[in-house]
Amino acid sequence: MTYWDYIKAKNNLSKHGFHVEGGTLYRQGLSMKGIIDQFDSPIRLAYLPQITQQIEKARDWFNQAIQDQQYQGEYHYAYCTKSAHFRFILETALASNVHLEVSSPMDLILIEKLYEADQLSMDTLILNNGFKSKPYLQKIADLIESDKINMLPILDNEEEWNALQHLINRKFNVGIRIAVNDGNPQGIAHGRLGFQSTDVLHFVKNKLLPNPKASLKMLHFFVDSGITNTDAYWNNLERILQLYTQLKKHCPSLNALNLGGGFPIAHQLDFDYDYEDMVNQILQRIAIYCNQHQIPHPDIYTEFGTFTVGESGSFLFEVIGQKKHTSLADWYFIDNGFLSTIPDNWGAEQAFIILPLNHWDKPIKAVHLGGISCDYSDFYHQPKQKHQLILPDIDQLDEPLYLGIFNVGAYQEALSGFGGIKHCLLPSPKVILVDKDKKDQFNFRSFSNVQDAENMLKTLGF
Ligand SMILES: Cc1ncc(COP(=O)(O)O)c(C=O)c1O
Repeated sequence: MTYWDYIKAKNNLSKHGFHVEGGTLYRQGLSMKGIIDQFDSPIRLAYLPQITQQIEKARDWFNQAIQDQQYQGEYHYAYCTKSAHFRFILETALASNVHLEVSSPMDLILIEKLYEADQLSMDTLILNNGFKSKPYLQKIADLIESDKINMLPILDNEEEWNALQHLINRKFNVGIRIAVNDGNPQGIAHGRLGFQSTDVLHFVKNKLLPNPKASLKMLHFFVDSGITNTDAYWNNLERILQLYTQLKKHCPSLNALNLGGGFPIAHQLDFDYDYEDMVNQILQRIAIYCNQHQIPHPDIYTEFGTFTVGESGSFLFEVIGQKKHTSLADWYFIDNGFLSTIPDNWGAEQAFIILPLNHWDKPIKAVHLGGISCDYSDFYHQPKQKHQLILPDIDQLDEPLYLGIFNVGAYQEALSGFGGIKHCLLPSPKVILVDKDKKDQFNFRSFSNVQDAENMLKTLGF
């Protein structure tokens, strides 16, 4: 059986933008092997049109549901910068007029840079989330005072409010984040982020409302396990709606509900998620609840990170060696490391779509995939499948086997660091950007070369 027979029998590749021609893999019409030939492995690829498409798709689903449900509020798309802070990503997302969600004082310095480059106007809302340290609160206050950036601090706790009201001398808007039951099986993270819902009404009535400087605009919640069709998700939504309704009676300024992030993307070829149905159900439930309680439907904000950038990113690697094993599957070694380059796989056992870029006409075999750092854990962790993958058999091949690890565009660099120091000093791969021009032709830009020794050693003080 060839690799092509094996995959064809099981999966619908075209659903994920893949097709195979002449024994090699294409995505979005782009030859993956062609990119290796042009730029050489290892590569971190960013396919920018995907970001634009994701934003458009989500807007279409929400706007369609608004029509279908006769929903009276508006939908606003925000991009969560922490999933990938690269300038090329922020510029691509901003070209689609998104709002931004940020989480740290450094994030706000980045926002100032965008402002100085004329890439932000007062139409772009900057949602400030996260636990707010003193420097972060000061930066938020400074930018609100400057009146050039449209800031919306989302309060995580009462101390943040106490600090902000002293630091800011003009009128400003705030949101409140409500802690959720996030489905974490150990319950460790439960309630770490946001106000307990039982404390909010008292806080708003006694602290926020008496202060004429601030207006409450938004309630925020984020179920970290994602926007899923589960009782856990619907229970959280219902709890937030109860609170929204109570607060709305005291705060006419409150008019927005922020659902946070959590739209999933494909991490396996058999991924099946009905985005449209989920969006419809969410808006329908909110509309029914608000109608019953005779309050206006809130505007809806989302802060999708993974959904915005995940599918735009891929790693392209070469298999540079193999090790035979007498009783278990053989090892294939890639020319980089899993541990430091794809930390979500090592740290969270997040699977990713892995496909060969060539040799689809060759027979198959089961292998383990290893990185070349000397850490025991530097291998591809494939949950539920004994860490073993089916790939083309590369015994006696002239041309090396190349692999693509797909939909890795969110969080990998944020978690592993980009540049800097890596395990065994394995360098960050080169970054190649792919865009399309007005005639729909691909164009390529090199964002950065493979990390060099000088860069790494300087960081180490050599
Ligand atoms: C407050 C907030 N909003 C949005 C997101 C983005 O989540 P996702 O990448 O699941 O869309 C995160 C991620 O940690 C977050 O903390």
